[in-house]
Amino acid sequence: MDNVSILVMNGPNLSRLGKREPGIYGTRTLDDINSELVSAFHGISFDFFQSEEEGELLEKLFHCEDNGGVSGVVLNAGAFTHYSIALRDAISAISIPVIEVHLSNIYAREEFRRKSVISEVCSGVISGFGANSYHLGVRGLLGILDGRS
Ligand code: DQA
Repeated sequence: MDNVSILVMNGPNLSRLGKREPGIYGTRTLDDINSELVSAFHGISFDFFQSEEEGELLEKLFHCEDNGGVSGVVLNAGAFTHYSIALRDAISAISIPVIEVHLSNIYAREEFRRKSVISEVCSGVISGFGANSYHLGVRGLLGILDGRS
């Protein structure tokens, strides 16, 4: 596919990957995960963004929508997944496809994690494959983009 650019966006606490609860989230850092994506998907251009702040995630999405150049988003919203109606509304407000990903299987964890308020407005959901969830998310997104072109 020509000129595909994917934003890989991570929400709160994902900056701590590698150190944070490795039994659940693995030992790879976010930088490791991001560079593995670049190596795995030749010819795709990636932009990486992480923030602990809800508003910054929303602004990044709106920036992508308004400035063009981003074909789709792979999003691990962290805990915002479970309660941020603002993030849900922002995803709903843009035309760029967003794939929801999680390292852990949120449906096999605490009750409060089993609900995602963003799934309904995302184009697909991948959960429980560790760092590979991001790769599967990119694959799924490429399929969607291929179908559109
Ligand atoms: C997570 C799951 C969320 O429940 C949690 O708050 C995270 C990470 C995951 O990747 O498994 O921060 O999104």
